[in-house]
Amino acid sequence: MTFGKPHRHYRQTDSTNSRARELAAAGAPHGTVVTASEQTAGRGRQGRTWTAPPNKALLYSAIVRPLEERHVMLPLAVPLAVCEAAEQLNPDLACKVKWPNDIHVDGRKLSGVLIEARPQDGWAVIGVGLNVAIAEEEFPEELRETATSLGEVGIDSARKALDVRLTKWLAAGADEVLAAWRERDALKGREVGWDGGSGVADGVDDRGYLVVVTPAGDRIAVGAGEVHLTRF
Ligand code: BTN
Repeated sequence: MTFGKPHRHYRQTDSTNSRARELAAAGAPHGTVVTASEQTAGRGRQGRTWTAPPNKALLYSAIVRPLEERHVMLPLAVPLAVCEAAEQLNPDLACKVKWPNDIHVDGRKLSGVLIEARPQDGWAVIGVGLNVAIAEEEFPEELRETATSLGEVGIDSARKALDVRLTKWLAAGADEVLAAWRERDALKGREVGWDGGSGVADGVDDRGYLVVVTPAGDRIAVGAGEVHLTRF
């Protein structure tokens, strides 16, 4: 079940996730990848926008079908694939994952993942934005201190590396995904807060929920759909 064939590239589009969703709805096969040099309305998680200067980031969306029970680990598996691709391309990097599926290097965000699933139609689109060659001054001012980039790496090499690593991690078993994710957990032991609560992060449970120990000592598990971390 490989990724990258077929591959469709746009010089400019509103959102590669939107193009991939259209292709999926029209019956495009598993592994279809859509990329763009530039997005005019890139989407992030929780209604945020995703921006990148033209030709400086990998803007990548891939179709997964059929969507099966084993794909419950998709939100954890995708960032692992991004981490491995990034470290292959720049061996000086050590990537961590910030629950639920951001990729960080030295505390700065390198990449984000937006998965849009249509279980009733049996497919999902994996969207990955990976900062490849964005200089610090090219990030919007509010991201300058918190975002980072891969370095001197070609965007096409990044795409191919991600195709290969996604193929690997989507075939991996839940135990392997969870073990690898726990090795890279950026939040463990850190104080986290969200609208409605706060506590100390203590890893992920076997469903991929974030486990938090509250000030009262209770251990609670929160799902990515339920909470939006406001600090960490
Ligand atoms: C996030 O960190 O909030 C997720 C960002 C995901 C951005 C990527 S860029 C390629 C794909 N197309 C989109 O519109 N969004 C995703």
